[in-house]
Formats: sequence, C-alpha cells, structure tokens
Amino acid sequence: MDDERGIAPLAGLSGIGKSFGGVPALKEVDFTVRRGEVHALLGENGAGKSTLMKILSGELGDYRGEIRIEGEQVKFTRPLDARRAGIAMIHQELDLVPALSVAENVFLGREPRTRFGTVDRGRMLRETAALLARIGVGIDAGREVGRLRTGERQVVTIARALGLDARVLIMDEPTSALSSREVGQLFDVIGELRSRGAGIVYISHRMQEIGRVADRATVLRNGEVVAEFDARAMTAEQASTAMVGRPMGQLFRAEGGSSSGGGDVLVVEDLAVVRRRPRPGRREPAGISLRVGKGEIVGLAGLLGAGRTELLETLYGLAAGAPMRGRIVLDGVEVKPRGPRQAMKLGIAFVPEDRRTEGLALDHSVVANTVLSVVGKIAKAGVVSAAAERRVAGKTVDRLGVKLRSLTDPAGSLSGGNQQKIVLGRGLTTEPSLLLLDEPTRGVDVGAKAEIYRLLGETAARGVGILLASSEPAELVGVCDRVVVLHGGRSVRELDTAEAGEAELLAATMSEGLGETL
Ligand SMILES: Nc1ncnc2c1ncn2[C@@H]1O[C@H](COP(=O)(O)OP(=O)(O)OP(=O)(O)O)[C@@H](O)[C@H]1O
Ligand SMILES: [Mg+2]
Repeated sequence: MDDERGIAPLAGLSGIGKSFGGVPALKEVDFTVRRGEVHALLGENGAGKSTLMKILSGELGDYRGEIRIEGEQVKFTRPLDARRAGIAMIHQELDLVPALSVAENVFLGREPRTRFGTVDRGRMLRETAALLARIGVGIDAGREVGRLRTGERQVVTIARALGLDARVLIMDEPTSALSSREVGQLFDVIGELRSRGAGIVYISHRMQEIGRVADRATVLRNGEVVAEFDARAMTAEQASTAMVGRPMGQLFRAEGGSSSGGGDVLVVEDLAVVRRRPRPGRREPAGISLRVGKGEIVGLAGLLGAGRTELLETLYGLAAGAPMRGRIVLDGVEVKPRGPRQAMKLGIAFVPEDRRTEGLALDHSVVANTVLSVVGKIAKAGVVSAAAERRVAGKTVDRLGVKLRSLTDPAGSLSGGNQQKIVLGRGLTTEPSLLLLDEPTRGVDVGAKAEIYRLLGETAARGVGILLASSEPAELVGVCDRVVVLHGGRSVRELDTAEAGEAELLAATMSEGLGETL
C-alpha cells in the first residue's frame, strides 16, 4: 500500500467489509489517503461512501479488514480513538447541538479552560470567529445553532473540523448547501491544508467540484471499488458512467423554455415581511417581485443568506402573523397564506431544505413518510388502507429509484440521498398547482438528479408552476426557464436561461454579493 517512494500513506484501509442486518454495505474495499492530497470518494446514493468514512473515523467499530495510520495498524472503536490519531470528519448530516451556541458546538468536548478551571468563553468565541473567518462567512459565534440556516450550519461543521487541526480530514458533502462564493473560500482553505501536508477525503455529488479540488478519485458502486481516476484528467461523463455502471446521457431535460402562455400561477409584487422584532440571522423578504407561469420552472439564485429559503417559507405561510407589504397572487387571486395547512389547501406544496429536521420522521417507515401529506387523497370514506398506502409509496420509490430493502424500513436507515428522494417524492404526490422546492437535489447522486429533473419537467408539463431555490448554477441554468437572483432579501435581477449561461448567472450572483461586503 506504500506509494512509489515507499512512504506509508497517512491512512490505509484494506479489505474493509461491513454489513447492516446481514446486508453487505461494503465488500473488500481498499482505500488510501496520502500526505498533501485531496482524494475524492464518489458513488451513487447508498454506494457506501459515508459508511467507509465512518469506519475510518471510528464511528462504526464493527467491521472487517484493516486500518493502518502511517503504516501502523490500528483498531478504532470510538470516534475519540480516531481523533487522537489525527482524523476528523465533517458529517453529511449536520450533527450539531441546536440548543448550544456556534462556539459551544465548535469546541464541544474540548472546551478551553481559564487558569481557574472554568470554561474560557472569551477564547472560545474568539477562536470560533477566526475559524469562521477562514471560510469567509460572517456568523455570530454566540448565536444558537438551532436558529441557523442549513448552509450556515454546514459552515459551522466545517469550522469545527478545521479547529481539530487534523492530519486526515474527511469531508462528507461539505458543500451541499453552500453557494459559489462559500465553495470558493472552502477550496482555498482545502488548498492551504493540502500544502501543509494534510490528507483530505472529499465526498460530493457535485461533479464540477471534483475536477477543481481533487487530485485522485475513487468510485464505489454497491459497496465495491469499481474505478480509480486521476481527478484532474477525469471527465464528468467518465465519473458518472463508473458510478452508475452505464453511460448516463443527458443530465438536464432537453426541452428548454416551456409554455408561458397559460397564465401565471404565482405573481409576487414587492413582497416584504416587516417584523417589529426581526428574527436574528434570517433574511426576510425585503422587496421581491417575480412571476411563475403555468408550466414554468423559475429558479431562485443567491448567496448564503440572500433570503431564498425565507421567501419560500413566506409563500408557504410559515411567516404567518408577521405583517407583510406587497402582494401574493395565486391563480389570479390575492392570498395571504396563514400556515402550511392553508397553503396546502390553496394548492401549494413545499419541499424544505433540511430533510432531517423539517422533512422526515426518521423513526417512521418509508411508507409512512411518503404518504404523510397525501393521506387525505387516498383515503376512502376517511379510511386509509395499508394496501393503498403501500401502493402510493411503492410507486414513488420506483419512480425516483430509491434504494432500500423494504418499504417498512425506517427512513433513518436510508442513505442521505435516498432520504432526500423520499421528501421530494412526497411533494410531487400531492399534485399541487405551485411547487416550492428548496435545494431539491442536495446530496442526490447524478443518476437520481437526472431522474428528478425529468420528473420536474413532467410536472411542469402538466401545468404546475415550479419555484426552485438552488445553489448549484449548473442546475439553475440547466433546469429553469428563468432565474431570479436574490440579494439581501430583494430580487435584484432576472436572467432568461435561453440567453444567459452559467458564467453570467455566477457573475450576477457574485457581483450582487460583493456589494454587501464593500
Ligand atoms: N445505520 C444503518 N442501518 C442500516 N443500514 C444502513 C445504515 N447506514 C447505512 N446503511 C446502508 O448502507 C448502504 C450504504 O450507505 P451509505 O450511507 O454509506 O451510502 P452513501 O454512499 O454515503 O450514500 P449517499 O450519497 O446517499 O450519502 C445503504 O444501503 C444504506 O441503506
Ligand atoms: Mg453518505
């Protein structure tokens, strides 16, 4: 396993095997992390990426095979063992304590002490602020994590891992909720770590990132290594073909520019939420105008904190009670959504960004999660038969290609991307007239992305208006008819994707963002 120069890698895993309930998740996997390299780990949802890295980070102690750290065999049985060996992991699912502050989360379990033995809060706050500054995101280190948006939480988990100063840093989808500016900053930090000799494992479903950041790439399929690439020379097609096991074809739907002659599903005019006491860390709508035609897919672009999620939440009635300015017109009628129940009645469906806290009941079965919002529709005389539920759930699962063993498995046992598909499938089964999507493909693999885009195209073709917030420029340009750029809670530009490409969208998003820091 040593490299050309006979130097043992920072970490070497060989013959790793792992099963869950008798079902193999990893079979005989070899994987190395060398000094000063970024090693991308690729694979479809459920391929075994997180499982492999949880073994290296000491979270799953029960596995077959061997781990060597700088040539020396080790057996980690808990995360602390791995941390002591210089291994840190940024988790795909944001494992923060919501009730604690940003700084308390960053230093959890290793709080600095004053000479009197008490926790040194001042130092914690200062060092946390410095870590956050490295990623270039202004989050108050004293703020409660439960009040942060998904993207901000992601930044906090990154800061926490950076604070551990690890030799091997595992990043399991660190950028899935970050937009271009933050991704750029993170890549600068990764470059710095690499030049200081750290080894980084980088997991992402955003193919464009791999070529930019990684040196090597290993592809897992069904728990086995199927390919290894020089990441700089690898094309997105090669990677996705290896991941899926067959050539992928077109990722985005071919037919752009759908009908806008069918009238508007949604018109938003100068919408603003005016709270007497603003919610800390939230960017309420402060002057947003846009329209979504029947059968149209309209994108929402913007940097972290631009107010995309808050706009969707407001349209879904989650700002209920707060005084509003401007108008929301749905199918020609002015509405004031006063809560999700009413929004649903009006024909609005919402797929939220954070599947773990808002989207899924993790302990409940896949069936229960899939039918959650359609129960009213499939009930006969108020009674929902288990068979009808299973039929609806089975159809959704098939359509989206969700990888699972049984429909009765708890949603929490699915891989991250498969959980996302369940949340999305549920939004689609309600047959809304307006579908609000917040980062619908976050953590979803290329094959499933293509499937989701196809489904969105089909849904739009049935006349549904879709408003899609995304931080992936390629997705916005590839999927949407028009893209509205938000900045500071305002709509500042609109681009027609028939004319404008990714570069233009990036420029529009970034230049508006620069205005904020100048
Ligand atoms: N705690 C668990 N209990 C049961 N099965 C599990 C558990 N954790 C993972 N699995 C299964 O192991 C397989 C690999 O999952 P893993 O989370 O490693 O996939 P992944 O490659 O990280 O996917 P994703 O891209 O969706 O994050 C999946 O089939 C998953 O359902
Ligand atoms: Mg994973």
